[in-house]
Amino acid sequence: MTAALLQIEALTLRYGGLTAIDSLDLTLEAGSLDALIGPNGAGKTSFFNLVTGLNKQQAGTIRLDGARIDSLSPDRRARRGLARTFQNLRLFTQMTALENVLTGMHLHVAESLFEILTRLGQFRSQERAALREAKELLSFVGLAAAAHRPAGALSYGDQRRLEIARALASTPKLLLLDEPAAGMNPAETAALKDLLLQIKGRGVSMLLVEHDMSLVMQLCDKITVLNFGRKIAEGAPAAVRADSAVIEAYLGVKGAGELRGAGT
Ligand SMILES: Nc1ncnc2c1ncn2[C@@H]1O[C@H](COP(=O)(O)OP(=O)(O)OP(=O)(O)O)[C@@H](O)[C@H]1O
Ligand SMILES: [Mg+2]
Repeated sequence: MTAALLQIEALTLRYGGLTAIDSLDLTLEAGSLDALIGPNGAGKTSFFNLVTGLNKQQAGTIRLDGARIDSLSPDRRARRGLARTFQNLRLFTQMTALENVLTGMHLHVAESLFEILTRLGQFRSQERAALREAKELLSFVGLAAAAHRPAGALSYGDQRRLEIARALASTPKLLLLDEPAAGMNPAETAALKDLLLQIKGRGVSMLLVEHDMSLVMQLCDKITVLNFGRKIAEGAPAAVRADSAVIEAYLGVKGAGELRGAGT
């Protein structure tokens, strides 16, 4: 049997006395678009921070393509094929949209001035290729016209799509999306849905954290539900929506309405 793309076992993260991720198991198969949902504070962003290496777990293992990555630096993990977007946007607001996408690329940076001088020609052709690729990514996410505008001047929805373009610039195998639809209007959310399907069509696997249940239910192959850092349900959208533990976890919070309203 081939290994899953992402395989998490018994992952645990504590902040002092608070267990943010509690012995979590999770598997994502290559080619899939899965979701990780749960009420506010359930541990979703904490989980992304563990997988990408911004936080270090107290216990458990993380495997990408069958190989342990849980002691690698965030940069090494990115080079293995992991990319993410952030719940709170982290764009370089003064830089143009195009420059932001370029920062997402793994350019082979020369180590010394001597190398730079001797490899200038090679360097320039790499740079030209990077520019072409960055422009292609901007038009892929629908932002071709905004290439030379400062990222900070774009609408909120456009900034979220720019973050996706930047994440794709590293040609990831697995893209972790932290609330990409937050702050989007219905038209932007509909465009986002199409975009995520196109990314899937390019062979990039995704794990989506999202409070827009309609989007999650329509898009995702498998849903994992977290509550207080623990997995309380997992499965196909229809089964998860009908799960009594899930309904209970969302009761009394804003999400209960979202869950009921996510019939389509
Ligand atoms: N740096 C930190 N130090 C201490 N506690 C933290 C820290 N970051 C998160 N927490 C706590 O860990 C728990 C999980 O937080 P996390 O941000 O992962 O939740 P979430 O599921 O992403 O929530 P939301 O839907 O609101 O984004 C919460 O109780 C939160 O208050
Ligand atoms: Mg979060």
